[in-house]
Amino acid sequence: MSQESLTPHAPARLDLSVMTAAGPQPAASQGPRGSRETAPAVRLRGASLAFGDRTLWSGLDLDIQPGEFFAVLGPNGSGKTSFLKALLGVLPLSSGTVEIAGHPAGQRGEGIGYIPQQRAFAPDTPLRARDLVGLGIDGHRWGFRLRRRAVDAQVDDLLGRVGAREYAKVPVGQLSGGEQQRLRVAQAIADSPRVLLCDEPLLSLDLNHQQAVSQLIDDQRRANDAAVVFVTHEINPILDYVDRVLYLADGRFRIGSPSEVMTTEVLSALYGGRVEVSRVNGRIVVVGLPDATTHYHLPGDHHDTEPA
Ligand SMILES: Nc1ncnc2c1ncn2[C@@H]1O[C@H](COP(=O)(O)OP(=O)(O)OP(=O)(O)O)[C@@H](O)[C@H]1O
Ligand SMILES: [Mg+2]
Repeated sequence: MSQESLTPHAPARLDLSVMTAAGPQPAASQGPRGSRETAPAVRLRGASLAFGDRTLWSGLDLDIQPGEFFAVLGPNGSGKTSFLKALLGVLPLSSGTVEIAGHPAGQRGEGIGYIPQQRAFAPDTPLRARDLVGLGIDGHRWGFRLRRRAVDAQVDDLLGRVGAREYAKVPVGQLSGGEQQRLRVAQAIADSPRVLLCDEPLLSLDLNHQQAVSQLIDDQRRANDAAVVFVTHEINPILDYVDRVLYLADGRFRIGSPSEVMTTEVLSALYGGRVEVSRVNGRIVVVGLPDATTHYHLPGDHHDTEPA
């Protein structure tokens, strides 16, 4: 099946000079910032994660720079959410080390924004939309609560930026999946984090809001020199922003620019079977994935396009 099968981890050993030359420059390298900013936003060394005898990934050496837009792709169950949880420090690595925003993972939450993978709020959740967004602001940055009026103004601004003003006072459990998702984005960016971890933030959003939310996250990255780690099944909505991709599949991974990783050769090797990648009107089209994913498929391709 896989004549070109990869040595599991060798290709992912990073040569940052090559990656930087090949991919777009992270915003960080363009701004006149202090030397503190040159420390990586995320650093993994010899990192692996396994559940029982199943290894999701191992031998992961990776620096994500401030201002870098870093996408994480892969089929269901490949370990994307677990990767973010390892960065948050809520899932301990099986081996290796992970630092985020200058500290070992899990030690300090400051400066880290997180959009969790979507789970609907229970219909009777006793929170209005604006209360949920306010939770991203209230309380911790200055050690005491901001004045009510200042919080209200900031919440209004955030609600406006995700197009959620008209449902600001609706209980969150009564909102649609996409409406709830826009609030999670607003909450996660409320404190202008240095590292923004996003787990499928475009899920449930219509095309307009996919574009608006992607743009908003990219604006955050540029305005704050923030690193964005963006888990997605669909790279096309963020293709203009992405510096590098981590592609996880079947215990293997590859890291590189989209044009280095999203190729017939690399994906066929990762999946251990023939996968065709082509560009159609500037979009990446993947045909022949062995399992159900939400990559775009060509008309006539009968693979399931629904998430499992
Ligand atoms: N705490 C845990 N204990 C045991 N197994 C786990 C645990 N957390 C995750 N797993 C398993 O690890 C695998 C990877 O899960 P993860 O949620 O990271 O996948 P994913 O790539 O985010 O998938 P999806 O695209 O469906 O969101 C899954 O098979 C999952 O069942
Ligand atoms: Mg997941």
